[in-house]
Amino acid sequence: MILKNGYIILNNELVKKDILIEKNIIKAIEDNIDSKTEEVIDLNDKLVMPGLIDVHVHFREPGFEYKETIKSGTKASAKGGITTCMPMPNLNPVPDCKENLLKEMEIIKKDAVINCYPYGSVTIGEQGQERSKLEEFHDLVKAISDDGMGFNNMEILEAQMHLAKKYDIVIASHSEDFKYIKSKDPKGEIEAVKREIELAKQIGCRYHFCHLSTKESVDMVRKAKEEGYTNITCEIAPHHLVLNKTLVNLNANFKMNPPLREEVDRLACIEALVDGTCDCIATDHAPHSEFEKALDFVKAPNGIIGVETMFPLIYTEFVKTNIISLDRMLDLMVYNPIKVFKLPKRKLAVGEIADIAVFDINKCHTYSYGEIQSLSKNSPFIGRKLYGFNKLTIKDGEIIYNDLGGKNE
Ligand code: DOR
Ligand code: ZN
Repeated sequence: MILKNGYIILNNELVKKDILIEKNIIKAIEDNIDSKTEEVIDLNDKLVMPGLIDVHVHFREPGFEYKETIKSGTKASAKGGITTCMPMPNLNPVPDCKENLLKEMEIIKKDAVINCYPYGSVTIGEQGQERSKLEEFHDLVKAISDDGMGFNNMEILEAQMHLAKKYDIVIASHSEDFKYIKSKDPKGEIEAVKREIELAKQIGCRYHFCHLSTKESVDMVRKAKEEGYTNITCEIAPHHLVLNKTLVNLNANFKMNPPLREEVDRLACIEALVDGTCDCIATDHAPHSEFEKALDFVKAPNGIIGVETMFPLIYTEFVKTNIISLDRMLDLMVYNPIKVFKLPKRKLAVGEIADIAVFDINKCHTYSYGEIQSLSKNSPFIGRKLYGFNKLTIKDGEIIYNDLGGKNE
């Protein structure tokens, strides 16, 4: 297969190239590749990137298949140009032991259209009372988390941190102090980050803060990095970079945890995007059914879907506006996730596996309800005009999503 007339990112510049893919390998990247035998796909000046990586998704299977399944979630991700993801463990059964993890991995093997690296849980049933037996399943995971629940038993967390260090896996923290769980006061995040960062500094395990949303927590991670703690990393979700709390109305599609914060917090998150404090963009893709989201705002569950809009939001708001560079965008959505979680290497280069997404950065498109691939439709971005929707996704040399509209669109 030849991908013709795409733009790749080379040293922070867009350069027009053709790409030859044979079987699952990139065989050539040159100014002009012609062949009478190969299938030719004209990309018409679109942006070609390595497939994106989303280190924080909820695919709800096993347990809550009416919200999302591994199949629907990975297909929605493929539509968004994501070829690798890390599903969180708030499932039923919770992957808190080898047996449950293997159950989840079986479904992944059968149904996933992209690469999935599931998280194990930190505590049994994510209940915070008893640690999971990491020594029995560490070889099956890149990371563990109790996402959705904060760590409020420091002895258990400490014990798991020592084991995580021993086995060289990441602990991903949904930092939240239970005292503030009802009020959603930003102190809930700030106090948890403060105490966890101290433990991570002392113990030296790889410690990753999920969906940071406040200025104070971003500042603490920046300081730790300045002090040289390379084991401490963080992610920020697109919605915390693009929306603030003034937009929260009674529409539960604007309800998530952590919630939308003040404008100063949003600006601090953007600063972290610019100055390198933020390692990864991660969506916290959290599907909930229309029935649940139609409940009274207070009763409706937290969470919004995100895999289909991750790239267009970041591209439109921060790259097109020159707030971050092309190279920084690549780091945030591809290379840093690989480094932080020690995932298999991906690169748009000759000899590498063909793992590619093609984004239409020249066309503005209104994101609509009808196009949503995810089983749940809870997006606050429906109706938003964005550049950079994905048009073609290739995983291991195989087309897994194609919206080019014919060979010569
Ligand atoms: O908004 C959220 N939704 N935040 C979480 O931490 C969990 C997630 C979910 O599982 O729905
Ligand atoms: Zn989450």
